[in-house]
Amino acid sequence: TNDISILAIESSCDETSASIIVNGKVLNNIVATQSVHEKYGGVVPELASRAHQENLIPVVQEAISSSGIAKTQLSAVAFTRGPGLMGSLLVGVSFAKAFARSLDIPLIDVNHMQAHVLAHFIEDPKPAFPFICLTVSGGHTQLVLVKSHLEMEVVGETQDDAVGEAFDKTAKLLGLPYPGGPLVDKYAKEGNPKAFKFPVTRMPGLNYSFSGIKTAVLYFLRDQLQENPKFIEENLPDLCASIQYTLIEMLLIKLKEAVKQFAVKEIAIAGGVSANSGLRNTLAELARRKGWNLYVPKFEYCTDNAAMIAMAAHYKYLKGEFVGLDVTPLAKMKL
Ligand code: KG4
Ligand code: ZN
Repeated sequence: TNDISILAIESSCDETSASIIVNGKVLNNIVATQSVHEKYGGVVPELASRAHQENLIPVVQEAISSSGIAKTQLSAVAFTRGPGLMGSLLVGVSFAKAFARSLDIPLIDVNHMQAHVLAHFIEDPKPAFPFICLTVSGGHTQLVLVKSHLEMEVVGETQDDAVGEAFDKTAKLLGLPYPGGPLVDKYAKEGNPKAFKFPVTRMPGLNYSFSGIKTAVLYFLRDQLQENPKFIEENLPDLCASIQYTLIEMLLIKLKEAVKQFAVKEIAIAGGVSANSGLRNTLAELARRKGWNLYVPKFEYCTDNAAMIAMAAHYKYLKGEFVGLDVTPLAKMKL
């Protein structure tokens, strides 16, 4: 047949995922989440690689069998080349090479950050070009100007921690388990965002910095706890709401500047932190006031997943952008 059927693999961090896409339509998105990292309070790279090695074959088998497509009908195999953890990437890249070689089909390398943006093309409604995408997760914080499916420019990004990292690290200071982001979101709903004031870091241009708030919260808590050892438990919702408010404020200041600078009204958010209800509500309100069209993918497509890799691979297949078996993963990879 002339169908374009692609198997896509994602293994850049701590989710092992596989997806099948046929003619640009995602058929499934199988994700195995690694829980081994919880007790360490963060992703342990060596443990992540080992878990990928265990999870990858079952995840791929499930993606293929639930798609109803025979392995031999596949047109190409795609994988995340970077950015990500080297050991984790290697598992996916090695598998994809062997798979492509055994079926004698082309290999497609995908940039993980480009894929986060292309998650917006998995389902309707889809943003129109050009649009601005704010990609926010545990590993990345980027403002991307998207000119076409494969033409993107990073116009601003964090110079240190990602915003998800800031959520998780401040949550840890509050005694919350990893990953703390979703818990901060939960407690913030019952708190007053103006109860405590934390500094908003302003970087030049459209860049971000999220390492300052961690230190500010650390010193603030240290002082308060000296006076009242029960300060955190007595103020948890207000603390979470105030921290979240500050982080959202920092994200939106630069987003508004970018919108002005590039004169676009199509705005998209991507990445795990786009699940944050405070960010969603504030953005929805802002979009209404400013007349922006706002796009937020399903949560399943916001966190790391292979469906977004499959979507990127589909567009690369159409352009004949393949790589050889000598391709290597890149821990750092530019858009
Ligand atoms: O995209 P993702 O699953 O993985 C990375 O590529 O990093 O993002 C995970 C990050 C974590 O930092 C997690 O705490 C954060 O997204 N996160 C949230 C929420 N849900 C996930 N942060 C704030 N509020 C949430 N509701
Ligand atoms: Zn990611």
